[in-house]
Amino acid sequence: MKKKETVFVCSNCGNEFGKWMGQCSACGEWNSLKEVKSIKLKGESRNNLRRDFLGQREVKKVREIETKNEEFINIISTKIKEFDRVLGKGIVQGSVTLFAGEPGIGKSTLLTQLVGKVGGLYIAGEESAEQIAIRVRRLGLKAENFDIFESNSVEEIEEYLNRVNNLYKIVVVDSIQVVGCENVNGVIGSVSQIRESTFRLVQLAKRLKVAMFIVGHVTKDGDIAGPKLLEHMVDTVLYFEREKNGELRILRANKNRFGPTDEVGIFKMDEKGLSDVRSEDLNLTGGDENKIGSAVTVLMEGTRPVMVEIQALIVESFAPMPRRVFAGVDFNRGQLLTAIGQKSLGMPLYKYDVFISVTGGIKVDDTGADLAILAAMWSSYKEKPLQNPPALRAPSLENGGQKQESPVFVGEVSLLGEVRKVKFWEKRKKEAEAMGRKVVEIKNVKEIK
Ligand code: TYD
Ligand code: MG
Repeated sequence: MKKKETVFVCSNCGNEFGKWMGQCSACGEWNSLKEVKSIKLKGESRNNLRRDFLGQREVKKVREIETKNEEFINIISTKIKEFDRVLGKGIVQGSVTLFAGEPGIGKSTLLTQLVGKVGGLYIAGEESAEQIAIRVRRLGLKAENFDIFESNSVEEIEEYLNRVNNLYKIVVVDSIQVVGCENVNGVIGSVSQIRESTFRLVQLAKRLKVAMFIVGHVTKDGDIAGPKLLEHMVDTVLYFEREKNGELRILRANKNRFGPTDEVGIFKMDEKGLSDVRSEDLNLTGGDENKIGSAVTVLMEGTRPVMVEIQALIVESFAPMPRRVFAGVDFNRGQLLTAIGQKSLGMPLYKYDVFISVTGGIKVDDTGADLAILAAMWSSYKEKPLQNPPALRAPSLENGGQKQESPVFVGEVSLLGEVRKVKFWEKRKKEAEAMGRKVVEIKNVKEIK
């Protein structure tokens, strides 16, 4: 007998409740309960399958378990440089990856490119096989090893993959919001469906040793039944996001059982799909001329150095309380650097407005930019472009001299004005050198003068 009822589901932990509460009593999250219509199948356990599965379990002894030497774990390259970088080395056989992101960000595009390059099965729940075929051809991908299975049913997927056993190394399910299981409550896309479908797909992938990518949509407000619920079930969680200035797409690993979580992959989207962004494209400095109020630094995006320009504007203030406006720099850090600038560099900033911005819409959360922020402030205050110290200057040419490149400033500044080296120092230095710039090495901010 079917009985319609409403349940309240926590969008953070997925627990269900009979009544609404301001705070989830299971995970403690506030305002996370959302109302969901559900159809309860009376007398039938939602977890039948889980029980059956548990029934077959046996205790294993470590010495009886054959393990592969780590080097022999099968890793498949995605043939997409930035994708491999985020995963570690590549795709681990039998691993399950949740591929999450807002609708329209490019999840289907990137995974189509993956299957097109490596070969595999694309389970299409949202788009028709024809739509995907059009995309495969338009992106100029190989069509030979690209199979498409249109389905919204976990049972169908299980049946097909069991039948073709080991035919595919890679399977993409696009998306988890549109597949469901027959004997589970709720409509497709509901929390219980998403949870059970994921659980069963993970079991399937492990048993068949296929690498599976499960697409999950997230909405801006972290809507219900989002990938948050599934993170603990899978090996790897990748988030595909838009960088603040909107041009670039960033792939991040939120969880990674087989690799790092601090790497990012950077892509850009054009009519040819998503392409790797090279280091040179990441140079977010506005040219290499020395400008007043501008200083260049090297920030870290994950473990990758990115060169950016910091601009400062120091103007006499007519307000009783001088203004401090920091775009891309943490307000407290900005305040602190302003105070250091006053004390160590002798700028009377108490009567000046201070504006700081970072080019490219990048947000600085790296103390390595301290020195560059102070240098930009100094340059604006003195109305002089920053110069390399004599030792780092390019040799002048006879007739009028060669254009001098602006120096690169990297370092954390202490309250006393001492400059400290920051992590990835060598990497940042190499990046600057690769761009034909030199990192200024000083021990105290006073040396900027
Ligand atoms: P899509 O991969 O469908 O997003 P998702 O699966 O995350 O919802 O990509 C959506 C956007 O990408 C769409 O607005 C069109 C754009 N796009 C391109 O600009 N170039 C391309 O080659 C492709 C395939 C898509
Ligand atoms: Mg899609």
